[in-house]
Amino acid sequence: MGFSTDAIHVGQEPDELTGAIVAPIYQTSTYVIEEMGKSKGYDYARTSHPNRKALERTLTKLEGGTAAYVFTSGMAGIDAVFRLLRPGDHVILSQAVYGGVFRITTKLLVEFGLEFSYVDTSDIAKVQAAIKPSTKMIYVETPTNPTMIVSDIAAISALARGKNLTVVVDNTFLSPYFQKPLALGAHIVVHSMTKYLNGHSDCTGGAVVLSRPEDAEKIYFIQRSAGAGLAPMDCFLVSRGIKTLAVRMDRHNSNGLAIAKHLEAHPKVKKVIYPGLPSHPRHELAKKQQTGFGGMISFEVGSLDAAKQVLNHTKLCSLAESLGGVESMISLPALMTHASIPPDIQAQIGITQGLIRLSVGIEDVEDLIADLDQALARIE
Ligand SMILES: Cc1ncc(COP(=O)(O)O)c(C=O)c1O
Repeated sequence: MGFSTDAIHVGQEPDELTGAIVAPIYQTSTYVIEEMGKSKGYDYARTSHPNRKALERTLTKLEGGTAAYVFTSGMAGIDAVFRLLRPGDHVILSQAVYGGVFRITTKLLVEFGLEFSYVDTSDIAKVQAAIKPSTKMIYVETPTNPTMIVSDIAAISALARGKNLTVVVDNTFLSPYFQKPLALGAHIVVHSMTKYLNGHSDCTGGAVVLSRPEDAEKIYFIQRSAGAGLAPMDCFLVSRGIKTLAVRMDRHNSNGLAIAKHLEAHPKVKKVIYPGLPSHPRHELAKKQQTGFGGMISFEVGSLDAAKQVLNHTKLCSLAESLGGVESMISLPALMTHASIPPDIQAQIGITQGLIRLSVGIEDVEDLIADLDQALARIE
């Protein structure tokens, strides 16, 4: 079946008991067992529940994995993936990784004996050079938040092959509609479902999708033992959001491309970073490994003062930390989402105080352009 059909029907079957076309929310912590050793498949909601199972089936199908597990946030899922490692193991991460991943690795996971190297994963020679005998994982975010750096998933996976290296890809920015890392050779996909998969900015959630059954077994053990599995109501919301993922992503993409082109021609904008523009350094790679470019755009206005003028004056684009919702959101990564990255490293990876991140929503594009224009006009 096609992507949209799967998104609407896999894991989204009518309720067996009542025929309800939308499965009910199983808002219960525990399940009555008929007799010792005989249950209906559920016993306690930390371990599993029908809404979680349903959403996990949908995600497994859409990403083309063998299993998926959902967590209370993207970070909870990512934390579970790092727990596949042991003290002494070394991980190569995209240098411009999301601020929360930088924080959990540098401030928490190093305390447990893991070692991390932050490498420009868009340069395959640098990835190769960073591999050492203790390297067990390559963690790639592509495109990166907010610098939109694109890494070659197939080339990195080929490098890992035969070396006992696990390749993890954060697919948050594109969703499985525009990018399928497992088909390109990666072993694990992670998502902040808070973003495009849910798409309505009404809950947080994370997903881990796996190609290897042995990894799946371990992630399920971590999910049910540590207890960060997603709750019924939130699973219901993400399942509902996923039904419209394809149409939303198409609109994010067409709005994104139109706005990126408009900003690139705007006299107050110094630079636009959007993989769908020919000016993006990895435009050709993005065209090859993605089937769309999405709704995330970063643009440089030159200074913190100029950025503040824009951020404080947009009316439709809300000044907010998150992204991937139907509503447009604008932010300043240096002082907001990526504030936990020290200024020298921010400078190294291209996060300046004049770099604005725009999550283009699915409103009418003319209205969004008019909103951005009137805010940009505030810059002296
Ligand atoms: C690319 C990326 N990965 C992971 C996360 C973490 O997800 P969450 O905020 O749901 O924990 C984020 C959050 O912004 C993100 O942008």
